[in-house]
Amino acid sequence: MSQDVAVEDLAELDAHMEVKRLTDLINAHNVAYYRDDAPTVSDAEYDALMRRLQAIEARYPTLAKPDSPTQRVGAAAASGFRKVKHARPMLSLGNVFSEEELRDFMDGIRRFLKELRDDPTIPVVMVSEPKIDGLSISLTYRDRQFQRAATRGDGSEGEDVTENVRTLKDLPVTLPADAPDLLEVRGEVYMTKEDFAALNAGQAEKGGKVFANPRNAAAGSLRQLDPAVTASRPLTFFAYAWGEVSAVDWTTQSGFLERLEGWGFPVNPLSRTCATVEEMLAHYAEVNTGRAGLPYDIDGMVYKVDRLDWQERLGFVSRAPRWATAHKFPAEKATTVLHRITVQVGRTGSLTPVANLEPVTVGGVVVSRATLHNADEITRLDAREGDTVVIQRAGDVIPQVVEVVKDAAHAARPPFAFPTHCPECGSEARRDDDGAVTRCTGGLICPAQAVERLKHFVSRNAFDIEGLGKKQIEAFFADGLIKTPGDIFRLVSGHRDVILEREGWGATSVDNLARALTERRTIALERFIFALGIRQIGQATARLLAKQYGSLAGWRAAMDAARQDHDGEAYADLVSIDGVGPSVAEDLLAFFDEAHNRQVLDDLQALLTVEDFIPPDEAGSPVAGKTVVFTGTLEAMTRGEAKARAEALGAKVAGSVSKKTDFLVAGPGAGSKAKKAADLGVTVLDEAQWLAMTGGSAG
Ligand code: IVH
Repeated sequence: MSQDVAVEDLAELDAHMEVKRLTDLINAHNVAYYRDDAPTVSDAEYDALMRRLQAIEARYPTLAKPDSPTQRVGAAAASGFRKVKHARPMLSLGNVFSEEELRDFMDGIRRFLKELRDDPTIPVVMVSEPKIDGLSISLTYRDRQFQRAATRGDGSEGEDVTENVRTLKDLPVTLPADAPDLLEVRGEVYMTKEDFAALNAGQAEKGGKVFANPRNAAAGSLRQLDPAVTASRPLTFFAYAWGEVSAVDWTTQSGFLERLEGWGFPVNPLSRTCATVEEMLAHYAEVNTGRAGLPYDIDGMVYKVDRLDWQERLGFVSRAPRWATAHKFPAEKATTVLHRITVQVGRTGSLTPVANLEPVTVGGVVVSRATLHNADEITRLDAREGDTVVIQRAGDVIPQVVEVVKDAAHAARPPFAFPTHCPECGSEARRDDDGAVTRCTGGLICPAQAVERLKHFVSRNAFDIEGLGKKQIEAFFADGLIKTPGDIFRLVSGHRDVILEREGWGATSVDNLARALTERRTIALERFIFALGIRQIGQATARLLAKQYGSLAGWRAAMDAARQDHDGEAYADLVSIDGVGPSVAEDLLAFFDEAHNRQVLDDLQALLTVEDFIPPDEAGSPVAGKTVVFTGTLEAMTRGEAKARAEALGAKVAGSVSKKTDFLVAGPGAGSKAKKAADLGVTVLDEAQWLAMTGGSAG
């Protein structure tokens, strides 16, 4: 049988059959493991099948099919990663934060081991290693071949990230002859600061996820289901510990680190042995000083008892070793002068205050700007221009102002007045409901937000203009050809020659664009409202508004009336639309309050034909155009279904009863709404009456 033949001896025809056999087997095991949660083979057997299949495919590349199980990430695409039980648990470390705590830790070791307690002159040699700010990983080598990589997980069980780890720089795949037959090396996967910055810049450019720090970037990259993505994100690692090993022939941690180097593993060059607490502290201070200049993030030092026999006797307390601890670095701080507070406008219109500082070195990096987060933070710190401030840099996150020196000069300075208007466009700035973020209301005209708004304006559910996507909008905006939504419709008529000169545009494509623009000059009211990109006005709310107000002119008139009098009828009507409410109304009216936005609307109104809302097919519906309110418990259907049905029949469903209400459908438990309806003379129906009227049945 071909399954017993070594890969090298397989003829092509047999190999072909063997590939099929292995593929079917592995797929069946995958189903058992992933779908049924009931593995049918051990991990080792599974790995052996996989390796055999890989070997055959390597020998006969034509047999490697795109849907081969080997082409899936170790843990099969959508199902996540295969779980891996650690042969020896991957533990964590205790912490010390001061010299005193470190001395206590060392005293504990001395008290634990009798010979050390009895003879204080015996030195306890410690290995002092930088604590790499990454993710711990376990790498298993069998017969000196890289076999498997697993994350730490919960310490006893991690995830199989073998395929992703294969893409790491500097991973030795084959170990020299003096390495043990079975060797599990543990270490830290990390991303360098430089690679992190480049990755984030690239991500920002293509609108992808931007990571907060190199650690998160490394974690996100390692846990990619597609190893091709991991491969494109430079990860590397340092080895510092071991797990399962067939033969331990080293007697100290420092000896082990030397072995690791000899086997070709990257070992941190700053590690060294220390014979006294003084040496440990000196090393700690030295590494901390050079920390900012290191190409990767570290968050402290790890001290480990060098002698293995002592490590074994010391053992563990719960999940941390008694023979090792971490000594964290304090966040890097510096004192400087806060010259000016400027306010930046983000792409969503959020206003972020920035402290412009007298340049100062924080742990080796010159900092001249720091974040003040938001208006509340400025108030909390009472930061004033001219103040002396303490800034902090933790890891690679944006430096922040953490403290203001409250001297006499501070008291004499005026408190900072947070801008009431957007520094980019002059539109009014308002606080979000939760108060944390202040936002510019000039969405359509604010240069900081304009590109995003314009992209939204032409997007699929809005104007959906063929041939005019995000890329084209960005390019035309950058060239100054479009600034406001109206400019889009003047694009071809006003700039035909300029566009023709651009790469990728010929007479045909410009003509096509002109045609697409003409086609879209007529648009449904609900799409038009959605296209404006008003905060909180998504497709569903845009539809509700279109339905409520019927026409663009009607909507604008109602919004103008509502914004001028929050106690009036127009405002009451607006907030009584089921699905609107005060917070949405607030954002909507803020948009209309802004003169720039009204100009944009005037402009568009002159350029376009905005079609009145066309109610859905409701011929013969007795409730078409009527306003209905539901209250109490409905028995035949949920409130959501009742509402959807009423709407399908052309009714408007409101949340509260007013003079405009035509019917109140009241189930058992109806309270104040029923009373109000009675007071206003509104027709009140029970559910059965409503169903009879709308042709539904209770069953
Ligand atoms: S030794 C039983 N050495 O720190 C000892 N850990 O807070 C196991 N780490 O999970 C860890 N650099 O991810 C050790 N030189 C180093 C380290 C290090 C970073 C991480 C590791 C561990 C965590 C514990």
